[in-house]
Amino acid sequence: EKGGYEHFMLKEIFEQPGVMEDVMRGRVRLESGSLHLGGINDNLEQLRKARRIIICACGTSWHAGLIGEYLIEEFARIPVEVDYASEFRYRNPVITPEDVVIVISQSGETADTLAALREAKEKGALVMGICNVVGSTIARETHCGMYTHAGPEIGVASTKAFTAQVIVLYMVALALSQGRTLSDSEIALYLRELSEVPSKVSEILKSSEEIHAIAGSYRNARNFLYLGRGYNFPVALEGALKLKEISYIHAEGYPAAEMKHGPIALIDEDMPVIFIATRDSTYTKILSNIEEVRSRKGRVIAIASEGDEDIRSLADHVIYIPAASAPVTPLLTVIPLQLLAYHIATLRGCNVDRPRNLAKSVTVE
Ligand code: F6R
Repeated sequence: EKGGYEHFMLKEIFEQPGVMEDVMRGRVRLESGSLHLGGINDNLEQLRKARRIIICACGTSWHAGLIGEYLIEEFARIPVEVDYASEFRYRNPVITPEDVVIVISQSGETADTLAALREAKEKGALVMGICNVVGSTIARETHCGMYTHAGPEIGVASTKAFTAQVIVLYMVALALSQGRTLSDSEIALYLRELSEVPSKVSEILKSSEEIHAIAGSYRNARNFLYLGRGYNFPVALEGALKLKEISYIHAEGYPAAEMKHGPIALIDEDMPVIFIATRDSTYTKILSNIEEVRSRKGRVIAIASEGDEDIRSLADHVIYIPAASAPVTPLLTVIPLQLLAYHIATLRGCNVDRPRNLAKSVTVE
């Protein structure tokens, strides 16, 4: 059942290229450069007219929501807020019928997310769901939605469901842009970039052994800091969450520029720092953040773009990912972070599929 892998988590990490193809199947039509999103087709006009979009979720699904915010704002120019479902539901949030609420849940049963969806419906918003489990409560109660089609996720730490959620959000962002903020040729280009992601992920998965070796040098660390900017800020949060959940090492994710507003005080030779430093518009800024860590003797692991040799002199370890445009990079940069968490946890003898204190679906509040 684990298909020859030692753990479900590893199997699910390695399944991602195929899952990504499944998420796009029938929805992304490369020949015509168009999108066919059956589950939201009837509501597209209303979705495009949204005054604002509020995304509600918990945990890893909330991280996917943050990436969704960057994607929808960049492509569709609709203001987006991302809220923890638990905060949203108890705040008496300001929602009007001009708002659209998107709830994201792998299990489709998370109690707080379900309550947020009911609250939003009550207040008259159109509610769209992004769920993995077919027929789950959240999927049934939303007005419209899309399934992630990632297949059953057994490992408690979410991996393939996360990347599937991000792909769905990418497609939704493009659908919201159609006839409004992006031309058909721009949409076709973004779809092409998306369609190249699965084979790039397969490339990255080949570095699993190399990442295992890096994990060996850090298995006894007590703390980790994960830093990224832009599209890769939510990936920093997700990388830190993965490590915490399965290895029980304390880890924090931060936007890289926020480091100097506090976390820099923690940096010394015992504080490994993971930088997501791909070549995009904030690359040079990230490099100066790396310099700041180095000058305080922090150890640096960089996730960098293939061909970037300069970064080798700055980082103790470099993990390369294939070049890609910024909006698709989270789908690539998260892969080495999933593997790093997995390898560190297994080297520490942790039960990665069933970490202590965690349940796959949190149906209590
Ligand atoms: C992290 C993880 C949790 C879930 C969260 C939401 O690896 O699995 O943080 O993401 O409990 O669950 P769903 O998406 O089922 O609502």
